[in-house]
Amino acid sequence: MSNRTFTMIKPDATSKGYTGAILDQIIKSGFSIKALKWTKLTPAQAGEFYAVHKERPFYGELVDYMSSGPIIAAILEKDNAVADFRKLIGATNPAQAEEGTIRKKFATSIAENAVHGSDSDENAMIEGDFFFSKLERF
Ligand code: CMP
Repeated sequence: MSNRTFTMIKPDATSKGYTGAILDQIIKSGFSIKALKWTKLTPAQAGEFYAVHKERPFYGELVDYMSSGPIIAAILEKDNAVADFRKLIGATNPAQAEEGTIRKKFATSIAENAVHGSDSDENAMIEGDFFFSKLERF
């Protein structure tokens, strides 16, 4: 079990001014920030990040959306980080997310779902490496 995960605060949430509230909830839930970046993905970068979903019908929509505005990317640390963070953000579809979860509070739809959270330790490493050099994390 690794103690790190990776997250993005997505364009729907940054454009609505939820960035501070989401980061606050993450920190108050016991995660410490090991790397943080405010950036905007090109369509090519969004497509590469989500390449695992290339065959899905929503891939084009996902790439357009994820490159439509600024995002926050971050590496987070906590015991049992991957599983605990997925619990904190709630189900992919905010309509099915539990009360109090980040997606229940801040997401718009299954596509525009406010935050990303890695689904495994292996993907947390890959996704963190996508955004951050060794100099940008500790
Ligand atoms: P995320 O957890 O970042 O991983 C894949 C993303 O694809 C997901 O959040 C949503 O933003 C998006 N996604 C998943 N399912 C659908 C769907 N059925 N329709 C549109 N977008 C989706």
